[in-house]
Amino acid sequence: MAVGDDLFKQCLRRWASGVTIVTSKLGDEIHGMTVSAFNSVSANPPLVLVCANRNSRTHAMIRESEIFNVHVLAADQQELSNRFASQSLEGSRFEGVEWRAGLLGAPVLAGTLAVLECKLASTHDEGSHSIYVGQVEHAEISDREPLVYFQGGYRAIAL
Ligand SMILES: Cc1cc2nc3c(=O)[nH]c(=O)nc-3n(C[C@H](O)[C@H](O)[C@H](O)COP(=O)(O)O)c2cc1C
Repeated sequence: MAVGDDLFKQCLRRWASGVTIVTSKLGDEIHGMTVSAFNSVSANPPLVLVCANRNSRTHAMIRESEIFNVHVLAADQQELSNRFASQSLEGSRFEGVEWRAGLLGAPVLAGTLAVLECKLASTHDEGSHSIYVGQVEHAEISDREPLVYFQGGYRAIAL
């Protein structure tokens, strides 16, 4: 018998992760959402993965555009994380946010810890989500403290 919904969620809440914003572009339209389900897949070639809910607009855009940028958020970017997760701000997430077009065309947000610009390498549909594996074509880094997500809330790393 599969594990119950509640226990499953309780287990996953105990997994501390970073927080990312994944952006994409299709034609003139840009979009993005907050994603904690991000990980590395391979160093050679450089591959990463994100898990996107199939109901999300970002999911649909990545499937069609086949490009996405992953931004690793810094400790002071909680507000940005909430903004890109908010349904009510769905059509205005980029308003007042500093960004530029990346080398593959998708938005690159200012002030993040790292940006990985990806071409979609493969797609794996599993349950409610799709795993998008991206080949990293360009990357940028800065040296800041990361935003951490644990037990449904934001944390800072204790040094
Ligand atoms: C901290 C945090 C982590 C999240 N992680 C994910 C994730 O890994 N995958 C996902 O599909 N949604 C995740 N979400 C939810 C989406 O950001 C949210 O549903 C968003 O409104 C979807 O936007 P869209 O439908 O406009 O693309 C997360 C939200 C928060 C606050």
